[in-house]
Amino acid sequence: MVLTSAPRYLSIKHKNLIPRKVNKMLDGKQIIVTGCSSGIGAETARLIKELGGSVIGIDRNEASENVDQFFQADLSNKASIDKLVSELPKGANGLANIAGVPPTAPPELVIRVNLVGLKYFTGKVIDDLADGASIVHLASLAGAGWQNAVDQIKEAADLDFDQVDDFVARHKIGETKGRSYFFAKEALVVWTMQNRWTQRERGLRINSVSPGAVETPILPDFLETLGKKAEESRKVMDRFATPKDVAPVVAFLLSDMNQWIRGTNIPVDGGQFSNVLCNMNGL
Ligand code: NAI
Repeated sequence: MVLTSAPRYLSIKHKNLIPRKVNKMLDGKQIIVTGCSSGIGAETARLIKELGGSVIGIDRNEASENVDQFFQADLSNKASIDKLVSELPKGANGLANIAGVPPTAPPELVIRVNLVGLKYFTGKVIDDLADGASIVHLASLAGAGWQNAVDQIKEAADLDFDQVDDFVARHKIGETKGRSYFFAKEALVVWTMQNRWTQRERGLRINSVSPGAVETPILPDFLETLGKKAEESRKVMDRFATPKDVAPVVAFLLSDMNQWIRGTNIPVDGGQFSNVLCNMNGL
């Protein structure tokens, strides 16, 4: 039996629902957070500290206030990542890959930052993480349609920075508005699954989190790209997410309370992904 749909409470705002017992969930954990200077990354950094952890922040822009150590780096650039990795302290207990650019950025840049740079950086630091570390990628509801792009995703599996321009041109990725962003997130969800057992003998876990639209400085870029679709999705939702809806899920995945979730993509979208699946399957 499907329960009748609840009335829509348009005025519901986010509440801090973290119970007291878990308020030191990240005690003593040192977490690397990319994209720490804005939006979801900044809120995740703040929350990690509130939950007892410390933050090694990375961003191309100036540091936010919620970091213990900060490294300025350009995650679209191999040399910058190499320099960053050589300077980073070893033994961190977690990595939150949150840095990203919106679909309105040039398609080559979107794929470099949101996919190629993220994978390269992760590959470079993974051996230096502590045993039992957790890695969390910020994917997106935009990655939900990965099954329709499997061949392209396979072809992009080992894409290097200097091959991105050619890949984008060959697949005409720049010709459809926002496709670069959707593709990068689809490939990221797949990469998360493929790494379900990477270094499991050391207790590592790798997962991703997929929000729908979130109120951050890049929300207008998403709305511009999605056009009519954004309006439709706004109509079925109570509200947009805020970074405070997303960061607690990232924090949970980074914590020791998550031991048995591996290679999984967790939608944090107020039910949008389920809504799409129900509509697609006539449920
Ligand atoms: P934001 O723009 O507020 O934060 C992104 C951060 O990444 C910024 O501080 C920016 O400087 C940094 N960054 C971008 N390019 C970089 C580079 N080359 N090197 C180093 N740092 C770089 O955006 P937001 O919304 O917080 O996005 C965070 C993540 O969440 C992104 O991966 C985005 O794709 C994802 N996301 C966002 C949604 C939204 O509606 N805002 C929805 C679903 C996913």
